[in-house]
Amino acid sequence: MALHSSDSRARLIGVLRSACSGELAAGYAYRGHGKSVSSSEVRERIRIIEGEEWHHRTLVQGLLAELGAAPSSTREALFWLIGKTIGTFCRVGGFFIPMYGAGLLEQSNIREYEEAAVLARDAGLTGMIDCLLTMAEVEWEHERFFREQIVGHWMLRIFPLWKAPPPKETIRASYPREAAAVTLAAIG
Ligand SMILES: [Fe+2]
Ligand SMILES: [Fe+2]
Repeated sequence: MALHSSDSRARLIGVLRSACSGELAAGYAYRGHGKSVSSSEVRERIRIIEGEEWHHRTLVQGLLAELGAAPSSTREALFWLIGKTIGTFCRVGGFFIPMYGAGLLEQSNIREYEEAAVLARDAGLTGMIDCLLTMAEVEWEHERFFREQIVGHWMLRIFPLWKAPPPKETIRASYPREAAAVTLAAIG
C-alpha cells in the first residue's frame, strides 16, 4: 500500500533525526579511533572520514531545518555519550573490534540514507534526493574502507564478516533523473 506523502515526510524527519545523532556519535567515535591506530596512512583516512561525518551532520541539520524540524535533544545527548564512549574504548580496544564495529555501522548508514532518499521521493521532496544519495555513496566508501582493513583477520572466525553491500552504482539506479544530473555535472 502506497504511503501518503505526509506519512513519508514524517518518517523522513524521523530517519533524519536518527541520522543526525548517529553522525554526532560517529564523529566522536572516529576521533578516538583515528588516534588509536599506528599507521599514519590509516589514521589520515579515518581523520578524513571523521570530517565527512561532521559534514553529513551539517547537511542533515540543514535538511531538518528545511522540514521545519530539529534534532531530538534526548537522542543527541545519548549519542554524544555513545560517541565519546566508543572513542575512548578505541584507545584500548585493539585493532580489530573498532574496525569491525565501524564497518557494521557504515553498512547501516548506507541503508539509512537510501531509506531517507526513498521517503524524500515519496514525500515529493525531490530537491533533497541528490544530497541523500551522495551521503549514501560516501557511507558506501567508508564501509569499503573499514571492511578492507579486516579482510583476512583471524578474528573473523569469531565475528563473521557481514555481507558486502551491492555495488555503489546501485544506490542511484532507481533515480534516473538524479543519476543524469551527476553525469552532466561530471561532464561539465
Ligand atoms: Fe555519515
Ligand atoms: Fe560514514
